[in-house]
Amino acid sequence: MQSGWTLDDINWSAFDPSQVDLRLLRAVKAASLVEYNAATYAGYLKGVFPGDEKAHAAFDQWAREETQHGEALGRWAQMADPTFSLEDAARRFRAGYTPAHFESGKAARGGQFGEMIARCVVESGTSSYYTAMRDASTEPVLCQIAGLIAADEYRHYRLFLDTMHNITEKRPNFLKRLWIAGSRVVEAQDDELAYAFYCANVPEKDQARIPYDRKTHALAYEHAIMRQYQRRHIEKMMGMVSVSVGAHPKGRFAAIGTWAIWTFLSRKAKRYERLVGETHKALNQAA
Ligand SMILES: [Fe+2]
Ligand SMILES: [Fe+2]
Repeated sequence: MQSGWTLDDINWSAFDPSQVDLRLLRAVKAASLVEYNAATYAGYLKGVFPGDEKAHAAFDQWAREETQHGEALGRWAQMADPTFSLEDAARRFRAGYTPAHFESGKAARGGQFGEMIARCVVESGTSSYYTAMRDASTEPVLCQIAGLIAADEYRHYRLFLDTMHNITEKRPNFLKRLWIAGSRVVEAQDDELAYAFYCANVPEKDQARIPYDRKTHALAYEHAIMRQYQRRHIEKMMGMVSVSVGAHPKGRFAAIGTWAIWTFLSRKAKRYERLVGETHKALNQAA
């Protein structure tokens, strides 16, 4: 598994500051921290597949690619906002956030199958996320970066899907697989994204004045990413998730999931527009 690109392949000189969207910039900063932190996940995943050298090598390569995603997004964010520092924000993020299952060292989702389904859900999400970002951005360098990352995320999804198909332990039944996929989606509501958004967008000097609040910053994060999605991005994601739980990518499960997520996102976007707009106003004043 090779991503086939490096930071040198990005046409940085095409950067057009007039096309930087402030809301997208905030989302990019937060994403750069989560991606940059991926190396910590490789060690955890290797622990779920003890003694499997082939899987370990693939997970190490995967982590290098995720780290490169963080570097590319971080470098772009630094060009768009010279006050942003990927290293400084990442240091604060790491100091304040550790997933609970990393500390226990145990597989959080009951075995290899569960972990691979959860990884497939995450890669489905990131693949559609960066595709949506590429389609939403009018800034040419961010378009190129998001396109390259989206292709990597799709390959990551394939890697975890193939790894899952090679597992010899007993496969959980369909309902259990659905439950694992659903609980990974719920897990995305934990502190990781909200705290990454906070560390990426509230400068250290303003931390005392604007303390971290999970609900507020989770909403601010969602607000920053929501408008970039189109229905076809959700359809693609649900097709990938469906395959990972053993359902047809264009079947009833995928259709219901797409309808439910799209309805949820559309309603939430409207309901929180005013509330979250105020949080962004506070961030604008802090900037
Ligand atoms: Fe990534
Ligand atoms: Fe990925």
